[in-house]
Amino acid sequence: MKKTLLVLGALISAFQLSAQPKLSADNIDEVLEAMTLEEKAALCVGAGRGYQLGGLTFSSTVLVPGAAGTTLAIPRLGIPATALPDGPAGIRISPTREGDSRTYYGTGFPVGTAIASSWDTELVEHMTSAMGNEVLEYGADVLLAPAMNIHRNPLCGRNFEYFSEDPVLAGKIGAAYVRGIQSNGVGTSVKHFAANDQETNRMENDSRVDTRALREIYLKGFEITVKEAQPWTIMSSYNKLNGEYAQQSHDLLTKILRDEWGFDGIVMTDWGNKEGTVKAVAAGNDLMMPGSTVEVQRIVDAVKSGELSEADLDRNVRNMLNYIVKTPHFRNYKYSDAPDLKAHAAAARAAATESMVLLKNDGGVLPLKGTETVAMFGISSVDFVAGGTGSGNVNKAYVVNMVQGLENAGFTLVDAVKDFNQKYVDFQKVNMSANPSGAGVLLGSAKVPEAPVSRNFINAQVDKSDLAIVVIGRNSGEGGDRRVDNDFNLTATERQLITDVTAAYHLAGKKVVVVLNIGGAIETASWKEDPDAILCAWQPGQEGGDAVADVLTGKVNPSGKLPMTLPISYMDHPSSYNFPTGYERSNNYGWFRGPVEPVKNVDYTDYDESIWVGYRWFTTQDKEVSYPFGYGLSYTTFEYSKPSVKLDRDGNLTATVTVTNTGSVAGKEVVEVYVAAPAGGLEKPARELKAFDKTDLLEPGASQTLSFTLTPYELASFNIDANEWQTAAGSYTLYFAKNANDTATSAKVNVRKTSSFEVTDAFAHIK
Ligand code: BGC
Repeated sequence: MKKTLLVLGALISAFQLSAQPKLSADNIDEVLEAMTLEEKAALCVGAGRGYQLGGLTFSSTVLVPGAAGTTLAIPRLGIPATALPDGPAGIRISPTREGDSRTYYGTGFPVGTAIASSWDTELVEHMTSAMGNEVLEYGADVLLAPAMNIHRNPLCGRNFEYFSEDPVLAGKIGAAYVRGIQSNGVGTSVKHFAANDQETNRMENDSRVDTRALREIYLKGFEITVKEAQPWTIMSSYNKLNGEYAQQSHDLLTKILRDEWGFDGIVMTDWGNKEGTVKAVAAGNDLMMPGSTVEVQRIVDAVKSGELSEADLDRNVRNMLNYIVKTPHFRNYKYSDAPDLKAHAAAARAAATESMVLLKNDGGVLPLKGTETVAMFGISSVDFVAGGTGSGNVNKAYVVNMVQGLENAGFTLVDAVKDFNQKYVDFQKVNMSANPSGAGVLLGSAKVPEAPVSRNFINAQVDKSDLAIVVIGRNSGEGGDRRVDNDFNLTATERQLITDVTAAYHLAGKKVVVVLNIGGAIETASWKEDPDAILCAWQPGQEGGDAVADVLTGKVNPSGKLPMTLPISYMDHPSSYNFPTGYERSNNYGWFRGPVEPVKNVDYTDYDESIWVGYRWFTTQDKEVSYPFGYGLSYTTFEYSKPSVKLDRDGNLTATVTVTNTGSVAGKEVVEVYVAAPAGGLEKPARELKAFDKTDLLEPGASQTLSFTLTPYELASFNIDANEWQTAAGSYTLYFAKNANDTATSAKVNVRKTSSFEVTDAFAHIK
């Protein structure tokens, strides 16, 4: 009898084993059913370094060396691990591997601020389809990108990764970015959701934002990207939002993201184990990254004690399984480890050129012939910044600096200046590595400050050269915000360099061009009168030097427009009154948190400026700026026809305008559509960007008609008291503009019907 039972038992377990389902797109519920509580909890926590739990071993495998994280494999159920590398300027993985002579470089594409300046969704999609191919071919599953927080203030250290001060520009560029990456059958992780607008105390700071600003400014870009491009994943941010960690906010992650916007992917946390894992699971945060045993244990314990309902956990597990069946690892994709880096470099160069913004071009000094002899001042000409630091820094094979780029294009560079810059940078780098400034682990090595150059040295170059170029560079990154002095404002040495070079060259009747190699806004008002031309090249990626040369020579006619305002002074931004200066009491953040009172702008930041971010403030206040949002020149000129605006029965607007190239070279033009709402009702900005488009390359004399449609919802503002979006009836003015201050071409339309749009009670009535 005993024997029979044993045989029966063995048969049953064999049956159970063979009946163990293997994950497929059609049996997700069955697999869920077969999972133990420990397995469910473990799948909702990244693989970290692997864990032991309940007598089971969950191992972590390095799928792609250098990738930021991995999800857990459960082999018995056919659940593979998946790999999640950073983003956003290209895939960030280890370029070399032990015992392997091959290299695994990612292409360094232009940074977020740059690509947003293209105002060209097709271009961005084309560029990120190349980027996404590297994700696929290097064996990864999701790129931790795009990063799309709002440039609330010029000093945020990660603004270079982010797109814009405007949510419509950010949202449309973000959607294009996601489409391009995901066209490869790999995913994106749209980050950092939400209101993660400063780096100071980034893990703990509480962003206190009223609901109107939250919905109209800080969430709108995410909303557009989620609705238009269906990213596979969203990354919830480290910070608190109105008192609660974003990654534990049910209002944010379930009510708004899923119930209102229809998001059906997974939410993963930004990289760090916070207490409150159970709250995060319940809030709809499906995956804790990078993952640690304690988080799995918390989930298991909470289900056992009844604190967490198993239904909530199951919902997240189901989301995880739905994600996994889409991945290349699940498909068993045979990646090559050999993406076409040459083709991708060309895509990076093309995107960089289309993103550069010509701020000034007096007397048509640009384009240059390409055969001139140039004295190129500014150490950033050799210490060129392709992209910012931290997790957004791509391990690229090379960077073409500006000296190389201009020489490649045929220019002759004055040796004395070139050598001086190179020697200075080499010396300072050795010096700095011997005496680290303690800038912080994530900041990487700080940029070498500009070299002082004597007037005699400058004067000695004038006869040897046809013109001078001065390159001004900035770098910043994850883990630290920028400062006003010597960063937003030029250093005294930089200021002197521009003054002295301009004086010497102008005296000899020669021209001076300033090239800005920057990731975010800097002060321009005090020195912009000096040079003849200013080109904002941004941090343009590994092909930067060649791309700058393409634009300087007119091989590519610049068509980028600023994605942020360049104010006259830093304090002109209302958010500057509530942004860390870098001089706050420091013992309240960093590694040591003492028992002290919460510190303003460190422990909490009041978004007192509400919706008055960027050009919304400057246009409404009629406040002068150095260069307005949306500004950028071309080597040609464009004229706009009289626009037409039609309204259909559902209240949708269709507007058209014809753009004609009235100059003498081919070029592209961005048309920005701003809308001014009728007076009365909610207080509104003077005008808000609602749509934009870019023409094809128009030959001289050629025209193109652009058309834009806007729904009543897109015209709505959020009424906190009624807790709904509202579009007032009345007369709306549509501006077809070259920048936020351009009101020359407009059309009016009368919206007959008031509309309102209901939302959930998420963050209801927070003022
Ligand atoms: C950053 C994220 C990044 C993650 C993984 C975090 O510190 O904030 O942007 O994706 O690390 O590297």
